[in-house]
Amino acid sequence: MAREWLLAVDLGTTWTKAAYTTADSTDPVLVRVPATQLAWFPTAVARSSDGRWLVGDAAQARRTSRPDWCWSEVKRELGQHEPRMLGGHPFGPVEAVTQPLLYAARQARRQAGRGFDRLTLSAPVIFSDEQRAVLVEAGENAGFAPDTITIVDEGAAAARSVLGPRPEDGTWVVADIGGGTFDAALVTADRGVAAVIDQVGDDRAGAHAIDTAIVARLRERYQIDDGDGEAGRRRAGYLRDAARMLREQLAEQRSADVFLPDLLLELTLTPAQLGELVEPVLAPAIEHCAAMLARNDLGWEKINALVLSGGASRDPAVRARLAPLAALRDAANPELAVVLGLTVPAEAPSRTILSLRY
Ligand SMILES: Nc1ncnc2c1ncn2[C@@H]1O[C@H](COP(=O)(O)OP(=O)(O)OP(=O)(O)O)[C@@H](O)[C@H]1O
Ligand SMILES: [Mg+2]
Repeated sequence: MAREWLLAVDLGTTWTKAAYTTADSTDPVLVRVPATQLAWFPTAVARSSDGRWLVGDAAQARRTSRPDWCWSEVKRELGQHEPRMLGGHPFGPVEAVTQPLLYAARQARRQAGRGFDRLTLSAPVIFSDEQRAVLVEAGENAGFAPDTITIVDEGAAAARSVLGPRPEDGTWVVADIGGGTFDAALVTADRGVAAVIDQVGDDRAGAHAIDTAIVARLRERYQIDDGDGEAGRRRAGYLRDAARMLREQLAEQRSADVFLPDLLLELTLTPAQLGELVEPVLAPAIEHCAAMLARNDLGWEKINALVLSGGASRDPAVRARLAPLAALRDAANPELAVVLGLTVPAEAPSRTILSLRY
């Protein structure tokens, strides 16, 4: 049977990434956004004043002027039933999540010069059937029949790409720590055949939760009150942006500062303060990992390495918290590990993982 053209889309909390494989090769091709040439775009949607959907950078740009017309981080609300009002009209999560998928599929078709036979999507392992159904419906809206859509857990997808097709024998925990979720897969490899034998996840242990903790700290330390209405929403958005900037600066610098123009305030954060804030965010996820190891008669001392993917794995405070657990190993492209893994052919997509060979 001729191989198929496969489109993989990793709908992340912060970034959406897409890649495809052709009928002739399993080498993934990253889908690039024409304007930026980047292989990712913000998972944000917005409504334009003439009633169109804006996606990615265009949606983010709208957030500055009209936050109430913009829906950032749509993945976080995928299971919600309540519609969200955007520019005075109600929209449900399916419609919102459809937009980044449609956008990714359109860019991929343009780049490949043809359509695709199958669609593979990522999901945090803790996503419910209902949340997965929303993803499938969005995939259908993007032009795929339901029986051509596969969902792969993010930890398993990351494991497929970061450990390679024939990993050395041993036992690994592969953790994907992204903008919203922490997903970890326990992988064993024996004579070159690897299997994901268990997975855990936590949707409060990603960069978003760290930013929430930073924002709380900033509000307390600088006595910031958001205020009501649109001005309040805008200030809350600025504070969240400031938290992300402070956190990301600390990956490169020993101290971080951000100026908040509407309050004429300079906000600062030190590595020690960030470390304190990261601890309670990561602790439950680390406990989930320990429980996963224990139920498989393993402990951290038996693990060859804790392999890290996801953008938040670049954060020195996150790394410092994980380093005592096991030897750390990094994915070559932390943010792209999941989407690249989605393109790797596997015996079974699986959900709560029972022997997933690849
Ligand atoms: N150098 C850095 N230091 C700290 N955080 C970083 C750094 N680089 C990227 N990040 C964070 O990584 C996150 C994006 O990573 P990634 O693309 O893996 O997440 P995602 O796939 O969108 O989210 P998820 O998989 O959780 O749904 C952002 O929140 C960003 O702030
Ligand atoms: Mg991700």
